[in-house]
Amino acid sequence: MLKEMKMLGTVLLLGILLVAAILTFVALGPLNPVPWLFTITLVGLPFYSRWREQHHFVAWKDEYSVGVEAMDNEHRKLLTLINHLQTAIHYQTGGNFEQEALNELMDYTRYHFQHEEELMQQYGYPGLAAHQKLHREMVADAEAFVEDYRNKGHKALAGVADFLKNWLVNHINGTDKEYGAFIQQKSNR
Ligand SMILES: [Fe+2]
Ligand SMILES: [Fe+2]
Repeated sequence: MLKEMKMLGTVLLLGILLVAAILTFVALGPLNPVPWLFTITLVGLPFYSRWREQHHFVAWKDEYSVGVEAMDNEHRKLLTLINHLQTAIHYQTGGNFEQEALNELMDYTRYHFQHEEELMQQYGYPGLAAHQKLHREMVADAEAFVEDYRNKGHKALAGVADFLKNWLVNHINGTDKEYGAFIQQKSNR
């Protein structure tokens, strides 16, 4: 329903801009900047909307690599699952799809954290306890967001997705690199 209303709003806005552009061209002539402003807005609006859509998605970059292939692969999968969730939000694919996308991301995040902690333990990484604490805090915060989503429904989902996206990308690109460097150093000995 919300999707249809948004679509209707966009079509209406484009219609108003088109009429405004035509009327101002007729009334003010092509030498006046006002009709051109309406025309530019009319043409630019779909591009802006597309850019906003893409902005929510996150792509893997080589600079995210922690230097441990198995972890990089899991991080890649996490980003894919984040994008699934963003798709569910953006295209309003319905309750089941968004619920599944969210569950899958939460489950895989827990699985990855555990796997990562086991690896750190295996290599005797001294920062394990502090890293583990960050993982636990993130899961607790994410669970609070998920609870909010359960109570409020779809409108609370963007908050959950943004939290997970920002937290995971910053964590992968920051804290995870610290254990990555340690493991690489130990493996090269
Ligand atoms: Fe990680
Ligand atoms: Fe981590």
